[in-house]
Amino acid sequence: MSDRSRAGRISMGVWRRLRRAWLRMRFPNAQWGRGCDIRLGLRLALAPRGRLRLGEEVVFERDATLECGGELSIGDRCIFGHHCTVAAKESIEIGHDCLIAEMVSIRDHDHAFDDFDVPIRDQGSTCAPVRIGNNVWLAARVVVVKGVTIGDGAIVGAGAVVTKDVPSGAIAVGVPARVVKMRPGAPPAQ
Ligand SMILES: CC(C)(COP(=O)(O)OP(=O)(O)OC[C@H]1O[C@@H](n2cnc3c(N)ncnc32)[C@H](O)[C@@H]1OP(=O)(O)O)[C@@H](O)C(=O)NCCC(=O)NCCS
Repeated sequence: MSDRSRAGRISMGVWRRLRRAWLRMRFPNAQWGRGCDIRLGLRLALAPRGRLRLGEEVVFERDATLECGGELSIGDRCIFGHHCTVAAKESIEIGHDCLIAEMVSIRDHDHAFDDFDVPIRDQGSTCAPVRIGNNVWLAARVVVVKGVTIGDGAIVGAGAVVTKDVPSGAIAVGVPARVVKMRPGAPPAQ
């Protein structure tokens, strides 16, 4: 049943509060900030040692996937479009006021593949923390791979694959993502 048809019977605000209450009961070791709005279809894999923190008024549009084996922290007022994936085996930190468009993937790990004679699926993972600052816009279908830091106020264009750090205030596009310009008024890249 869609959010809209449920809302025909109970108001959207009540429905969202009920959903938050259910999430708090179902995942007691997660922190759900006040006013979070988690739409239908959330797939949440939260390990017993995982620490998931969502700030206030975070919105996840429908069919989000969150995996948290370590630390996953999302700041206040971040908005995630539909079908986003955020997967932290060790550590992902996202600041406040970020706009994450639809189908974005953010992961802090890859499959390990050093041994050619062993199936990749049996080789475990390699991890490196991902840091995304405040007020960052990741456009549709951006992929952020392990070990990347994206500075405050940066923009990453649609379809980019971010394999290296993006400085504050930069606009980066392409595969792999490269800085094409700085936002007007942004401090010069260091
Ligand atoms: C990144 C973006 C914001 C840049 O906008 P802009 O400042 O107007 O950038 P420009 O059009 O001046 O582009 C600068 C250069 O980057 C290239 N470019 C822009 N966006 C690109 C993208 N997504 N992928 C590859 N190249 C891109 C342009 O072709 C141009 O190259 P050139 O100088 O060789 O001609 C915009 O292109 C974009 O990707 N928007 C995303 C829309 C979206 O996903 N919305 C989701 C809703 S939240």
